[in-house]
Amino acid sequence: MKNIKIKDIKTTECIDDFYTLWNITLGKKYPLSRNTFRFMFPARLNNRKGGIIAAFNKNKIVGYLLYEILPISWGRPWTAISTIIVEPNLQRKGIGTELLKYYESKIKRLGISETCVGGFAYRIWPGIPEDLKIAQMFFRKYSYNLEETVCDLVIQLKDYKIKNIYKKAIEKAEVRITNAQWDDLIPVITFLKKEYPWYIGYIFKMISAEDMENILIMKKNNKICGIIQTYNPKSNYSYANLHWSKVFKGNLGSCAGVAIARKYQKKGLGAALFQTVVEYVQKQGVKYCYIDWTDLPEFYIK
Ligand SMILES: CC(C)(COP(=O)(O)OP(=O)(O)OC[C@H]1O[C@@H](n2cnc3c(N)ncnc32)[C@H](O)[C@@H]1OP(=O)(O)O)[C@@H](O)C(=O)NCCC(=O)NCCS
Repeated sequence: MKNIKIKDIKTTECIDDFYTLWNITLGKKYPLSRNTFRFMFPARLNNRKGGIIAAFNKNKIVGYLLYEILPISWGRPWTAISTIIVEPNLQRKGIGTELLKYYESKIKRLGISETCVGGFAYRIWPGIPEDLKIAQMFFRKYSYNLEETVCDLVIQLKDYKIKNIYKKAIEKAEVRITNAQWDDLIPVITFLKKEYPWYIGYIFKMISAEDMENILIMKKNNKICGIIQTYNPKSNYSYANLHWSKVFKGNLGSCAGVAIARKYQKKGLGAALFQTVVEYVQKQGVKYCYIDWTDLPEFYIK
């Protein structure tokens, strides 16, 4: 389309325009509060972590693409497109294509040869939602492989109760589940460094937001053998777990990143930790528990 200019955006001044565009394209199906929407931006304005590319028609923003650059600690150069949006009455005129091509050449110049849609720390969704068929056609046209399936899950907690077999598994294994305290800080990091290093960043974010108590740990003989993150409507740091709070009228909570030491796996302790913690968030007034971005739905459905 003629007269469309594609530019990198480096300040927060356009966030309200982006939010308006979100609301008129996807907001009905996927309502995000202004705060949640804003939360996704600061990291992208820091060039190291990602960016925003916008399409302008004269001076008006008519589309944008949000992306995230993964930290070096991820192991290899990689970026993720968090979303791409074009104003409804200007769709199918090539603006989405221009945004995507601009993005692809930009990351190539940064020496990055792999990218994906959705997922990672500042995600909106873990992938492309099933019901966004046009977006799927769009990415397919440009050879993105949409074969892998990941999902989000949600459960109503009204009648939720931990199953007896899992209570027994906890008793039998003689483990204790408690909120993390300051004294647990180094043991938590040491545990994760050894067992699940990719969770460390999330744990740091929770701690620096003063949400340490929302980390629950499982101990055997005073040594950590399991960890899980919990989120409730009062969490200071809620991350993608509570993005869709508006859909659930503010009653959403979450349990994320269940991690059991390898040595203790296959004893029912993962399920036991998870169920105990779901009961815990229920007691904090959470009515719906959200599990965001998993490729293990069978574990949670069970
Ligand atoms: C997905 C989206 C960004 C595409 O932007 P766009 O400017 O309309 O896309 P383009 O005009 O560049 O289309 C490029 C190709 O995508 C496919 N495509 C786009 N819209 C399509 C439609 N309505 N039906 C079928 N194919 C479509 C076509 O293959 C098209 O090529 P063609 O026009 O030569 O056939 C836009 O539809 C949009 O904003 N959708 C709502 C928000 C959304 O779902 N975002 C994705 C979140 S992950």
